[in-house]
Amino acid sequence: MHTSLLRIAVLAFIAALAGSAYADQGQEEGQKMFGKYCSACHGMSATGRGPAAEAMDPRPADLTRIAARRGGEFPEAKILAIIDGREPVRAHGAKQMPVWGEIFRGEMDGAAGEATARGTAWLIIRYLKTVQVPAE
Ligand code: HEC
Repeated sequence: MHTSLLRIAVLAFIAALAGSAYADQGQEEGQKMFGKYCSACHGMSATGRGPAAEAMDPRPADLTRIAARRGGEFPEAKILAIIDGREPVRAHGAKQMPVWGEIFRGEMDGAAGEATARGTAWLIIRYLKTVQVPAE
């Protein structure tokens, strides 16, 4: 009886460790993806000052202030839609933001492509959540 309880506790502990290792890995992966796909415009620090930003109008958004701009709330689903292109960044005007949903799916069609595109966008969103600054 006691041994099985102990075993459960040990297993839970191992699962928790594995879970946090996975979360760290996810964040690192998200940061890598961000560097690859987003930093040219939004900057490596996500503040909107990438090498291509100078020449752009409108300027790339400061992505450390996604939540600050929205009263401290980070609307994951909406940001996902902005990234994959289902929701335009602005109601009017030229769309400077690439439609990542198309790019992330690579050569894959249908559901597999959709899942891959979502997975990449989620990794980036999880990373962006870790770099949010508080509202002033
Ligand atoms: C070619 C330049 C460019 C690249 C590359 C780019 N963006 Fe953007 N992004 C912009 C511009 C410009 C805006 C602001 C558009 C506006 O204000 O109308 C923007 C806005 C955004 C917004 C809206 C912010 C808000 O608070 O509403 C999000 C989110 C975003 N980008 C995420 C990303 C992510 C994630 C990537 C990488 C996968 C990325 N962008 C890559 C140019 C770019």
